[in-house]
Amino acid sequence: MAAVAAPDAFNLGFIGAGNMAESISSGVAKSGVLPPASIRTTHRRTDRRLVFQSFGVKILETNAQVVDDSDIIILSVKPQIVKKVLLELKPFFSEEKVLVSIAAGIKLKDLQEWSGQRRIIRVMPNTPATVVMCVGEMATKKDEERVTSLFGAIGKVWTADEKYFDAVTGLSGSGPAYVYRAIEALADGGVAAGLPRDLVLGLASQTVLGAAATVNLTGKHPGQLKDAVTSPAGTTVAGIQELERGAFRGTLMNAVVAATKRCRELSQT
Ligand SMILES: NC(=O)c1ccc[n+]([C@@H]2O[C@H](COP(=O)([O-])OP(=O)(O)OC[C@H]3O[C@@H](n4cnc5c(N)ncnc54)[C@H](OP(=O)(O)O)[C@@H]3O)[C@@H](O)[C@H]2O)c1
Repeated sequence: MAAVAAPDAFNLGFIGAGNMAESISSGVAKSGVLPPASIRTTHRRTDRRLVFQSFGVKILETNAQVVDDSDIIILSVKPQIVKKVLLELKPFFSEEKVLVSIAAGIKLKDLQEWSGQRRIIRVMPNTPATVVMCVGEMATKKDEERVTSLFGAIGKVWTADEKYFDAVTGLSGSGPAYVYRAIEALADGGVAAGLPRDLVLGLASQTVLGAAATVNLTGKHPGQLKDAVTSPAGTTVAGIQELERGAFRGTLMNAVVAATKRCRELSQT
């Protein structure tokens, strides 16, 4: 993936040195968007501190020090503790800092109220590199450019209005799990059809990867691509007929709608 270097030097801090912070910071460091020495975080556990130290991230003692020593602060704790953490950190934010939240379901207006911060960007990444971003009204063009370049190091970045964020979570946030299920089922189908177990997972995952890449590269509608590989009375159409019998497409659509509804419920509580 071609990473775009950040437009200028700045310090990046992570509050919550968990899985997402690790994949974002290692992506940013490896891509050269920022030198690892410009990234800082903290964690109460030594094992987590060592993980971040292993790729050059500076480890500080407290969350407050991370905020104090950073220009852009990525909030990557679980949504349930966002309010508590932001209220504690409120005295350490200042006008020139930018708060970026990746916490699912937490709205810009709540982030602003709890942190007192005005320059805020909300981001919904998924682990395999799809990133949707909503820029708060007080964030500047430069803030947007910096955050785009950071998340560009781990994936493809889209910008969307905040009103779409629950549905974004239902589609690209939860979507990887649906596709993992599809890969598992394709592999099991291969075994049911007589293939050895050590062959099926590679075939299934590469098939999904190749199909996704074809959609992205050609820009063609998936229905058109399906038609191109489906010959009359052939094998593929026999498989597709079975998918239709099992309501494959309707089930995926319902999965996205159900996850969106659940996200909406969670963000209201
Ligand atoms: N995982 C995903 O695919 C995904 C996708 C999109 C968005 N997100 C969002 O990303 C955020 C982080 O998710 P994650 O999967 O990275 O979770 P995670 O691995 O549990 O990371 C959260 C980290 O925060 C630490 N922490 C707990 N209390 C803290 C405090 N008071 N101050 C500083 N750090 C504290 C936790 O430490 P302990 O483990 O010791 O408690 C943990 O290491 C969530 O808000 C989630 O909604 C996740």
